[in-house]
Amino acid sequence: MAKRLSRARVFSKGVSDSVSEMVQLVLPNDTNVLGNLLGGTLMHWIDLAGAIVANRHCRLPIVTASMEGLDFMSPIPLGYLVVLKGKILYAGTSSMEVRVEVYSEDTLSGKRRLTSTAFLSYVAVDREGRPVPVPPLDLSTDEEQKNFQEAEKRKKQRLAKMKKLKSRSANDSES
Ligand SMILES: CC(C)(COP(=O)(O)OP(=O)(O)OC[C@H]1O[C@@H](n2cnc3c(N)ncnc32)[C@H](O)[C@@H]1OP(=O)(O)O)[C@@H](O)C(=O)NCCC(=O)NCCS
Repeated sequence: MAKRLSRARVFSKGVSDSVSEMVQLVLPNDTNVLGNLLGGTLMHWIDLAGAIVANRHCRLPIVTASMEGLDFMSPIPLGYLVVLKGKILYAGTSSMEVRVEVYSEDTLSGKRRLTSTAFLSYVAVDREGRPVPVPPLDLSTDEEQKNFQEAEKRKKQRLAKMKKLKSRSANDSES
């Protein structure tokens, strides 16, 4: 395990090394009373699609640290395909941010529509659940640079929010 962990630390990787696409079919068990995909099921698929990207980047065990910016713009009906496209935007010391875009696809016409996007953060961990380093992210285009900088800003805001939440939770447990 130690050898595998140290190897993961050495090499940097590009964005295209971990880009992934996952496709699901909306079956009756996945739908609400209106015959559309359940939000919770879609959130589960988004988390999986993002985790595949993060794991391909670091090739280490990972945990989901946060999911944000998720909106459901239009319903996805029974019998449609759900196409989830994931791309890494940022790699820090042990954390990675991944954007997942969700498209519905009509199986008869092939027409695709963007229905959701979300930003997910994953942290690579060892067997005890402690954060471990991930490979740096090589940025080869202006767009990748921009995505990285924007992700860094979100990370700062997220950590500030977490700090507030942690101090509130410490105060609550004292009272
Ligand atoms: C995510 C987790 C491993 C971070 O552990 P921690 O001891 O707080 O780690 P640190 O404060 O040293 O932060 C480690 C990294 O995680 C990032 N991080 C911590 N909390 C985060 C959050 N809520 N969202 C995004 N990133 C976060 C930090 O920015 C840091 O990134 P960096 O190494 O790239 O700079 C820990 O909070 C955890 O295990 N959470 C539960 C995860 C889980 O169970 N997920 C399943 C769904 S609930």
